[in-house]
Amino acid sequence: MATDSVNVRAALRQQLMSDRLLGARAVPMLPPAPAGGRPRAGAAAGPADTGGKAERLQALNEQQVKACKKCDLCQTRTRTVFGQGSAGARLVFVGEAPGYEEDKQGLAFVGKAGQLLTKMIVAGMGISRDDVFICNVLKCRPPNNRDPSADEILACGPYLQEQIAIIQPEVMIALGSPAAKTLLNTAQSIGKLRGRFHEYFVSGTTGVGPSIPLMPTYHPAYLLRSPGEKRKTWDDIQLVMERLGLPQSGQA
Ligand code: URA
Ligand code: SF4
Repeated sequence: MATDSVNVRAALRQQLMSDRLLGARAVPMLPPAPAGGRPRAGAAAGPADTGGKAERLQALNEQQVKACKKCDLCQTRTRTVFGQGSAGARLVFVGEAPGYEEDKQGLAFVGKAGQLLTKMIVAGMGISRDDVFICNVLKCRPPNNRDPSADEILACGPYLQEQIAIIQPEVMIALGSPAAKTLLNTAQSIGKLRGRFHEYFVSGTTGVGPSIPLMPTYHPAYLLRSPGEKRKTWDDIQLVMERLGLPQSGQA
């Protein structure tokens, strides 16, 4: 029974990958992972069981980010976008900055790029968005979605650093060039960085203290413009799934 459902899920996922993630259709939620046995990407426990992480994240958001005026984006934002998901997540996604929809709703990755990210997580990885934590380098939207400036990244970076220090995920995925370059403190292009794990240093200083494996991959907004690159992102995601001990699709 359990094996059947694993096989069905693997087959479904395989079909979804070629059919949906690589294509552009709507995707239904897959049934939740069967109880027992397999590791999940998120905390199996509720918010009360994240060892105070949820409360610390909430305090960071309520007491610092929501009222932040450390850069000029505070003047043009509608709402700050702290990020959302499980405080006990084993996997954290980091994007660039809120876009139009995110700024309106106060939530990360809820626009078109967010829909593709959801497909990657749900159809591709076979887990739920609630299992992971999703946030951005910048917590406020740059006008007209322009690239974040170096000053803005410098001003906002400590919030992201603190979020990661609180969550302490096992693995991170940097979505797109600004996130990858910021987190890895490098000027290398995303095309060069992706495809293998790098080390994110929680201290913010390369080589100092504990590090978390980080997989850079293409930003979903880029994949919407260049669907031919989706296969590479899927390869990257499979390396992350392997690292997390999640059952791989395409191997059923
Ligand atoms: N692009 C991002 O980088 N982040 C979002 O939250 C939405 C779009
Ligand atoms: Fe503060 Fe970051 Fe928003 Fe700038 S982008 S105002 S540093 S929260």
